Amino acid sequence: MTRSNIAMIGLGVMGKSLALNLLDQGFNVTGFDISEAHRERAETEAKQLAQQVGKGGFVKATDLNQVLDSLVKPRVIALSVPAGNIVESVIDDLLEAGLEQDEIVIDTGNSLWTDTEDREQKYQGKLRFFSTAVSGGEVGARTGPALMASGDRQAWNYVQPMWEAIAAKVDSKGLPVGQFEQGEPCAAYLGPAGAGHYVKMVHNGIEYADMQLICEVYHFMSEVLDMPALEIGRVFDTWNQGVLNSYLMEISAEILQTSDPITSKPFVEVVLDKAGQKGTGLWTAVNSLQQGAPAPTIAQAVFARAQSSQKSTRVLGASRLKMHVQPSSGMNKEEALGELHEALYCAKLSVYAQGFDLMKTMSVKEEWDLDFAHIAKIWRAGCIIRAVFLQDITSAYQADPQLENLLFAQRFVEEVHNRSFGWRATVANSALTGVPMPAISSALSYFDSLRCEVLPANLLQAQRDYFGAHSYSRIDEEEVNKYHLTWSADERIQVSV
Ligand code: 6PG
Repeated sequence: MTRSNIAMIGLGVMGKSLALNLLDQGFNVTGFDISEAHRERAETEAKQLAQQVGKGGFVKATDLNQVLDSLVKPRVIALSVPAGNIVESVIDDLLEAGLEQDEIVIDTGNSLWTDTEDREQKYQGKLRFFSTAVSGGEVGARTGPALMASGDRQAWNYVQPMWEAIAAKVDSKGLPVGQFEQGEPCAAYLGPAGAGHYVKMVHNGIEYADMQLICEVYHFMSEVLDMPALEIGRVFDTWNQGVLNSYLMEISAEILQTSDPITSKPFVEVVLDKAGQKGTGLWTAVNSLQQGAPAPTIAQAVFARAQSSQKSTRVLGASRLKMHVQPSSGMNKEEALGELHEALYCAKLSVYAQGFDLMKTMSVKEEWDLDFAHIAKIWRAGCIIRAVFLQDITSAYQADPQLENLLFAQRFVEEVHNRSFGWRATVANSALTGVPMPAISSALSYFDSLRCEVLPANLLQAQRDYFGAHSYSRIDEEEVNKYHLTWSADERIQVSV
């Protein structure tokens, strides 16, 4: 009997799509899911594929013993199950069913990176635990996702050919190519266990912020410039032809030009304005706060989702907090649109700078030695934040792998210099008209704080010393020398602490 190269446990949307993608690339795959309906559905779709030349064979397993019996050795098993305890319970069941020490289990879910690190420890000596974070949603998984792998290096040697075959690919200019075309794969080994899931977590944090930025521009166009959804969609289409070209811009343009099949109104206008979240953006924001590596726009994007979900409070606020704002009537629409375009570009860059800075902090702390050019490269296609300017980010890190901050790369210094007026005008218009832009304005504050050689933290530190004797350093001495001023004494003197 022909044995399978890999098994997929969990045949939900992502697991099934990855399995079909593997079959497409000629690998033999075993599929298992506790749901019979999921098993049947995967088998039906696999059979349809099998009628074509060059596709892999599919084995539908009904229990874990069948999974193990169907595979070539060393056995490689990918899990596509919900993040959390279920990952461990499946691995424990696989060990009980006879999985051996040199065999490989890959977690492809959106697991918390610290859980991945713990699992690596827990299963050391029992199996090769490996992780691969997958981005791209259902379509990406089916036709070419971005794959962020980490963990046991030997496990990577086994899975690399499969992962590179199914990943999205780019041409020599960094542009995506078709599923069956040759190109550079968006799959990479990023470091020890945890690194891949960490990088994917930051990807999702950037995704949250990127989505929020686009939504704020839409809100302003709709509320202040009085543009119908269809027209906004067309403007987004135009923007998507230039520096703002990205998957999220593309789908936003399409969404805005779609009608509701029930009422024929613009679809976006019948969708309730309460945003959900599964938690990866929150994890990024929490990690940023814990590490003291500021990613304020990512945090703002999480807060914006939270505030959107407080719909009843906002309904009350809309009637209680009426106040005069600058009327929009005098605004020049073409000028405002130009400014919004610049604001979106600059704010997006600021978000990426925050995300990469956060990864740099953690890479040093965890000794991961992350390669930022490589990370930017594998985000150029397949993943949700894929965008044309990831090629520029790749080039920036290739030119200087130690770049202190992405915003310091010469190309981006010039871009922001040329576009910053529109960014500032947009934030000012948001404040004057009362249409909120929490992400765009926080991105500008991050940028301006980065430009401030002196921040008002001198006063803040003096306040801390005043009420809590928390001490201060002096600008005219070494920072290690700490002092306290005797604030409550009749004569204030400086004492060493
Ligand atoms: C991806 C997505 C994917 C998923 C998010 C959505 O890269 O393919 O990020 O991971 O769509 O988990 O997250 P929220 O439900 O929190 O928006």
